[in-house]
Order: sequence, then C-alpha cells, then structure tokens
Amino acid sequence: MSDERRSEPSRDRRFETREVHASARTDQYGALATPIYANTTYEYDTMDGPRGGHRYSRISGPTRDELERAFADLEAADHASAFASGMAAIDAVCSLLTADDHVVVGESVYAETHELLTRIYAGYGIETTVVDSTDPDAIAEAMRPETAMVYAETPTNPTLRIVDVEATAAVVDEHPGDPLLVVDNTFASPYLQRPLECGADLVVESLTKYVGGHSDVVAGAVATREDDLAEEIAYYQYARGGTPGPFACFLALRGIKTLSARMERHCRNATAIAALLDGHDAVERTYYPGLESHPNHAVARRQMADFGGMVSVELAGGREAAAAFAADLDVFVLAESLGGVESLAEHPATMTHQDFSREQLERAGIPPGLVRLSVGTEHRDDLLRDVEDALAGLDG
Ligand SMILES: Cc1ncc(COP(=O)(O)O)c(C=O)c1O
Repeated sequence: MSDERRSEPSRDRRFETREVHASARTDQYGALATPIYANTTYEYDTMDGPRGGHRYSRISGPTRDELERAFADLEAADHASAFASGMAAIDAVCSLLTADDHVVVGESVYAETHELLTRIYAGYGIETTVVDSTDPDAIAEAMRPETAMVYAETPTNPTLRIVDVEATAAVVDEHPGDPLLVVDNTFASPYLQRPLECGADLVVESLTKYVGGHSDVVAGAVATREDDLAEEIAYYQYARGGTPGPFACFLALRGIKTLSARMERHCRNATAIAALLDGHDAVERTYYPGLESHPNHAVARRQMADFGGMVSVELAGGREAAAAFAADLDVFVLAESLGGVESLAEHPATMTHQDFSREQLERAGIPPGLVRLSVGTEHRDDLLRDVEDALAGLDG
C-alpha cells in the first residue's frame, strides 16, 4: 500500500467524517476498503532495508498499520498499537510496571483486568490497591510514593458508574512520582468520550466491543500522545508478539467506519430501555448514566457525548428473578460480551464476574439480582416489548 492518501486526516473535521476517512491510504488499484495483506515476510532490495518499510508481520504490516493510524485518529492520540485482544492491550500497558511499583485500580474494572493485576502482576512484585475510582479523593488517599499507575474504566462494568477523568488526571498530576493515568474506554468508545483529551496518559480499548461492533472479531489497542510511552508499548508489542492478524484488523477497520451511527442507535435504544426499567415494580434499581437519578449523571453529561448503550438492572426478586428475566427475554440473547449490533443480556455474578468471591462481588456492588444489558441496534419497539414481557412474567 502506498503512503498516498485519498483524503488527509484532519482534526478540523467532525468525528463522523473522520471515522469514514480515517483509513484512506490507497493501494495500486485504488481499493476503497483497506486490503487484507496476509501475514508474511518482506523483501529487501539491499541489506540496508526492506523495500516497502515492513520487515515481518509480527513487527508491522499494511493492514495493521492502517488500523493503528485510524484508532489513534479517533482517540485524538498521536500513536496507537493494536493487539490480539483487549486483554493483550491491557497487558501491554501493565508491562510498563516494574517490581515494587504500586497501582491504584478501580473496584469494578473488568474482572480479568483485576485478575491480571492481583494474580499475575502481583507475582512480579507489583502491589495493587482497589478503590472507588469515581471518587478522586479516594484515589488521592490510596496513592503512595511508589504509585506508578492509576487504572480506571468508565463507564464501569457492570454498575455503569462514571469516573471523572479530568478530576482524576488532576490528582495524578499532582503526585510527585509522575504516575500514569490509564483509562479503559471500551464501554464508551471514542465516539462518546476521548480520555486523552481529559488528561489520561494512555487509553486502552477492547476493539472486540463497540469498535468492531458485530461480535465477529477479538482485538484491542492502546493509544497515547506521548512519544516515549508509544515507543515502549510498540517495543512490547514487537517483543511479546500478541498482535492481531490482518483479518481482525480489517474487521476492526470496517467497524470504525460506522461507529458513530451505531453508537447513536445504541444510546437511543438504551435510554428508552432505562426509562422503562426505572421505577418498574419488578425492579429494585436501574443503572444508567443517562438517568438524572444516577449518582454520576452530571459527570457523564460533561464528559460523554451521550450516555452509552449499556444498562444494568437489579431485579427486586434477586437471583431467581434475574434467572427468570434472562430466560424470558427473546430478542436479547443470553451471552457475555457487549457492543455488538445484537442485544445481549448477562448475569455478572455467574457469568462475566464468576471468578469474583462473594466479598469481591459485594465490593464491586454486584448484587445477585443484577442483569447487565448490552442494548443493540434492533428496533426500539421490539426491544421495549421484549423487556416489558420479561418483566411482566416476574410480576405474574
Ligand atoms: C471493559 C473491558 N475491557 C477489556 C476487555 C477485554 O477485551 P477482550 O475480550 O477483547 O480481550 C473487556 C471484555 O469484556 C471489557 O469489558
């Protein structure tokens, strides 16, 4: 693929235009979709360097390059590295830590992220303190001289609380040890919020979710504006080799082009579902940042372009009601993951967060009656009817 572009990336353009044109380098045929360049090794004309700038596919390749440029553009970053999964991207960020470092992490980060830090990285001599990451004072209090990283996810999973990234960045910046602020942007996507613009040093994301958008790819990425961090992450990517194949990159690139259109529908549908659930007799509590009663509604309104496609609901009848509700849903499919066009329901206590102890579940605010909904792009009326019918079953 040549370096020539059909359209120059421009921060002056709106997101909806940039996402469509972010991957616009042309090949010799002028293909509009980035071609899938199979993994390979690249020919050198002389020993001084390979002809087209790529040496070997673990290190780089044209399809992955294009994804990295596009993702960096959408996250308002200068650099991005793509990985074989969101977890591989998170592991890349954690690899910046060294023995005796300390990490402050939000209490409801993705369960595997929590496990990665408290089981694997703990073995390398890295200590983790778990805090309520929606409270900048709690973060400040948990920080120590050796704190090297503050890691947060917003909206949080599955209780959809909102971390004020700007306020957190202010706390982190004041700390003399110069720790890094890392934000997992998976639940929002770069269309709804760009943590680097709010002061984060690194943004990580599972492209498996909203960016891919069709439940057909597993991939991840890390983006930053800081050259030295980008270099370290790129070195880790090269040395450890957890890179995505060209087909995964192609699917993520294709997803990027329609991200805003899908997100708008996800948000509109989720707002309607949250309104239906909120105050219903069978419901103990509805978790959606768009509800005025949500404890972080004001932060969400300031930080996000809209309130997202995820809604969680605690059913009044506890675990039994959660099981009956999930079983009665028809359009919503009982499955883990999120961010695809199809609506999904899952029970965090037994599915995504099954490795959490009872105490960890309590600490993360996950009651037995909680069901998490990833609201898809189907017609709102069908989704509303599906949820209404499943709730009516509980009433009866
Ligand atoms: C917030 C969040 N971050 C990271 C991940 C991990 O992503 P992946 O499954 O692509 O490794 C997930 C997966 O569900 C997630 O929900």
